[in-house]
Amino acid sequence: MVEELTIPTTNRVMVDFNQMKSFGQDPLILERGEGIRVFDVFGKSYIDGLSGVFTTNLGHGVQALVDVAAEQGRQIAFTAPTMATNPAALRLADLLIEITPEQYTTVKFFTGGSEATEAAIKMARQYHLQRGHGRKFKVISRYLGYHGGTGFAIAASGQTEWKWRFDPLPGGVIHVQPPARPGCAACKRLDGCTLACLDLIEDAIVREHPETVAAVIAEPIMLAAGVQMPPEEYFPRLREICDQYNVVLIHDEIITGFGRTGRLFASERVGAWPDIICCGKGISGGYAPLSAILVADKIASAFWGEPDEGVQFWAGHTFGGNPVSCAVGEAAIRMLLDNDLIGNAERVGEHLANRLREVAATQPAIGEIRGVGMLRGVAFHEPIGKAVYDAARRRGLLLRGGADFVGVAPPLVTTPTEADEIAGIVADAVAEVVA
Ligand SMILES: Cc1ncc(COP(=O)(O)O)c(C=O)c1O
Repeated sequence: MVEELTIPTTNRVMVDFNQMKSFGQDPLILERGEGIRVFDVFGKSYIDGLSGVFTTNLGHGVQALVDVAAEQGRQIAFTAPTMATNPAALRLADLLIEITPEQYTTVKFFTGGSEATEAAIKMARQYHLQRGHGRKFKVISRYLGYHGGTGFAIAASGQTEWKWRFDPLPGGVIHVQPPARPGCAACKRLDGCTLACLDLIEDAIVREHPETVAAVIAEPIMLAAGVQMPPEEYFPRLREICDQYNVVLIHDEIITGFGRTGRLFASERVGAWPDIICCGKGISGGYAPLSAILVADKIASAFWGEPDEGVQFWAGHTFGGNPVSCAVGEAAIRMLLDNDLIGNAERVGEHLANRLREVAATQPAIGEIRGVGMLRGVAFHEPIGKAVYDAARRRGLLLRGGADFVGVAPPLVTTPTEADEIAGIVADAVAEVVA
């Protein structure tokens, strides 16, 4: 007798950005993972071609990280961030300071990316206040960017679909055009890149009045915008502009940090370091909720004073600096460094890109292969990204489906053979969609 397969109801759970009704008709319910593969409750296996969401950088089922979490939990699982810290948080802070350029002296921990970007914006405002520039409050960010779902973070984000329902959002955010292909809005009527998008940032600072502008927040490589690489000159010049007008530069490295781009941080890739680095997702390999901001001394020193001055940073969250998260974070970063997984991301990422370029060469629906390291995008001429996502999922590969692109970002432990398998499924999925 054939055993009847019952589909568990998902009606009581809201899955991010998915319509509950249709999700429940074809749910993705993952119960196990091993290496770069995950397995659903129906027994189907998938390649985790997006590392969860750019998070499971070390792959699934890493027992050593689970053991670290268990051991830390046995010792102490929670310390109140309002009155204490813990050895695990101190060790992780030391490690982060040790592996980043010397200007970063101070770390603040959180549990998710939005808390980190939210805090970075607050910190930029409070910094200026404490340095005698209390009118500097505006934030410049880019259309198509994504910085998270909380108040300032969603206000700074530039994806209309994800924010308009919540209007009015916190004020003081000025959006400018990002460098984005094809037909970059800033200079689309000209033949090539004129870096007009950068001029727009300087123009915005000047027209808003530099004495009102606190910060620029930017992802070094814009994922939600379609895996957009900036022109080479963009970030070094942006750094100069921020210095010129006393504006705090915040890099949102929630996706790009911790080896994803074949460097520890994409700031290195794009040739400029910010005043505040926001990190999340891959920092713990997904084995515990963890995020952080790494703060340059120039900013951090404004928060150092006597108790009655009240210059401490006035933002915090209950699970920030959680000992279990921090212990796992330290172990995950050491694993990343000790096993040269950043080098692997560079090498296998290039291999994957070459395979995807071969697919593109024979598939006219594909416009270009974008990205760097293990952060790649397959851009289409038509808005078939969602359909390609569906077709790939049916074939056992999970991707990110944008309107006219799919994001491909497998764990940093991916082998060349596994990269070939991913490219093969992408090829078949696109062929099915365009057929
Ligand atoms: C670039 C970027 N910044 C911030 C966030 C927000 O992070 P979280 O969802 O962990 O709050 C995300 C999430 O996808 C992101 O991609």
